[in-house]
Amino acid sequence: MYNSKIIGLGKYVPENVVTNDDLSKMMDTNDAWIQERTGIQERRWIKEGTDDTSATMGAKAARIAIERAGLTKDDIDFIVFATLSPDYYFPGCGVQIQDLLDMPTVGALDVRNQCSGFVYAISVADQFIKTGMYKNILVIGAEYHSNGLDKTTRGRGVSVIFGDGAGACVLTREEDNKKGILSTHLHSEGKYADKLVVASPSIKHWVPEIIEAGEEDISYYPYMDGTFVFKHAVVRFSEVIVEGLEKNGLQKEDIDMLIPHQANLRIAQFIQKKFRLSDDQIFNNIMKYGNTTAASVIIALTEAWEEGKIKTGDNVVLAAFGSGFTWGSVIIKWA
Ligand code: UT7
Repeated sequence: MYNSKIIGLGKYVPENVVTNDDLSKMMDTNDAWIQERTGIQERRWIKEGTDDTSATMGAKAARIAIERAGLTKDDIDFIVFATLSPDYYFPGCGVQIQDLLDMPTVGALDVRNQCSGFVYAISVADQFIKTGMYKNILVIGAEYHSNGLDKTTRGRGVSVIFGDGAGACVLTREEDNKKGILSTHLHSEGKYADKLVVASPSIKHWVPEIIEAGEEDISYYPYMDGTFVFKHAVVRFSEVIVEGLEKNGLQKEDIDMLIPHQANLRIAQFIQKKFRLSDDQIFNNIMKYGNTTAASVIIALTEAWEEGKIKTGDNVVLAAFGSGFTWGSVIIKWA
């Protein structure tokens, strides 16, 4: 069995910055509420007329990650793409990456695990590398939320949180089993699927029915029971980080860098306090990008690395929780 390690990281966010004040012109909200409850100051929303989508943003991030890995697109053996906002209902975005990057006809797999999407995706890629089936895998997380949000006061509890963006990494084979990804931990609890959901269009409630229902039916907008999700998030985040540390004989103090899914700064701060982490041991960028769901962990990991906050030998922990419910962690000895 091999290990896998990250050898290239990249990110792409749309140019268009949307501040909290901009949102207050669309709906009844304000900068103070958004900052106090979420920590978010601004987010990126794709502007009409650009070519940005989940697939194209993912491709832009992927090109950077492949170049930084010192590889070319022809070296990539497999693609794993995590998103809840694919360009098409089907096929998924993975195949679009194969085409957009003009790659050989490698396999492409889409992961649908929302906020935990990137953690699940990297775990899947890790398994393929461990068994020796593939050597270099491109893992992408990308989201185009803004076109699917209810930007009226009715949707303010959800819409102010989400942002658009993409991140990517290249995983490669590592012969030393004490380096790279040490373990991944994945969980789900489907009984809470309807607590954070886009219910339609689904095959049981298809487009003509939604149109016929008119204004009454807004099941195509994201619904979130925010307080309920928040309460579960803080518990599951903590559990799954501890699970990962214990599996590897590590203590809280051994964490050099925790990259939590950027759901809400208050959740990250709760975890930071609980694990007694200093500001140097946790990375947050929700202030700038909002919650980019499957892209959030990989955008944050990329930025932390770009800012020199991750060094060889560091114990890096990725953790996520979200719709499903799904949650997971990844323990990495940075190599
Ligand atoms: O990434 C996937 C996982 N997602 C999460 O982890 C998100 C978890 N949940 C949260 O982050 C928080 O629950 C929210 C940020 C979504 C909401 O914060 P909250 O402190 O739970 O607020 P709330 O939903 O209890 O709403 C409090 C009040 C309500 O007014 P009343 O009923 O007290 O009069 C809302 O109508 O705030 C009102 N409100 C707003 N006011 C101004 C809700 N959204 C807004 C808004 N601007 N955008």
